[in-house]
Amino acid sequence: MAEFTRTARVDWEGLPSGLREAVVERIGSPAKVETIDEGRRTPLVAAFTTGSGDRLFVKAAPDGTRAGVQLAREQAVAPYVTAVAPELLDAVQADGWRLLAFEWVDGTRANYMIGSPDIPLLLETLDGLDRLACPEDVPLIPFEKRWSSYAPAGRELDRLAGPTVLHTDVNPTNVRVGPSAVLVDWAAASRGARFVNACDFVVCLIASGHKARDAEAIGSELGAWCDADPLDVDYYARTVSTAWLHAFWNLTNPWAKAVLRASQCWVMHRYDQG
Ligand SMILES: Nc1ncnc2c1ncn2[C@@H]1O[C@H](COP(=O)(O)OP(=O)(O)O)[C@@H](O)[C@H]1O
Ligand SMILES: [Mg+2]
Repeated sequence: MAEFTRTARVDWEGLPSGLREAVVERIGSPAKVETIDEGRRTPLVAAFTTGSGDRLFVKAAPDGTRAGVQLAREQAVAPYVTAVAPELLDAVQADGWRLLAFEWVDGTRANYMIGSPDIPLLLETLDGLDRLACPEDVPLIPFEKRWSSYAPAGRELDRLAGPTVLHTDVNPTNVRVGPSAVLVDWAAASRGARFVNACDFVVCLIASGHKARDAEAIGSELGAWCDADPLDVDYYARTVSTAWLHAFWNLTNPWAKAVLRASQCWVMHRYDQG
């Protein structure tokens, strides 16, 4: 499920001095640290330029906070998703904080609107994601558990369980598009049913202006979509549409609203096809 609440942001100077010193020791003194406005949940998100002119993407959060737990998850999953995500180059823990330094990905935020050339690139990336394997001991969130407090038909939640690595937040800000589409922000990485990445993309396509029928036609280019039991997909559509209605009721973020509407549109499309 996507995350829509914003965390207060800090800049490099706002980090605890012990963390900054540890980073300087490991990575070197930054020539420049430019905070990035996009994104939502991590206190520091920035482009970090080293003394020798290399650019890194860094994010940092205090241990024990929600963002800190999410950052630890990103660190744990990073070695297994490099086929579709930036490489994690360094991780520093000091002064009660954690900082991750990733390979910088040139590119722009994805465009999911009708006819966008980013869509075929996304399909390739999602196909790559579908083929990834991640050892059992990597602490991904069991996807079916994420829904347990919202799902209207909890006894069917097992339909969402499975072995596949799920990104779960493929909104356009978490995709950098250059020569390929690269998935960033694995904060909510989960393990679950194979069709979920494809379905989440379909909802994003609808939120970006596609008709549900056309979004599903695009999704059907993915093996994970084609192999899914339609009854499981129906259950997921019912779950996201009802759970998000509850969870996002008070959110004013335009993307949250668009996703909420998209999920209603998607479930009614499936109902009408039924
Ligand atoms: N490796 C990267 N290279 C370049 N820009 C990135 C990279 N990773 C993320 N970004 C940009 O930074 C923004 C925030 O990063 P993200 O990991 O999504 O943080 P948050 O958890 O705060 O949403 C992204 O929306 C994207 O625009
Ligand atoms: Mg993000």
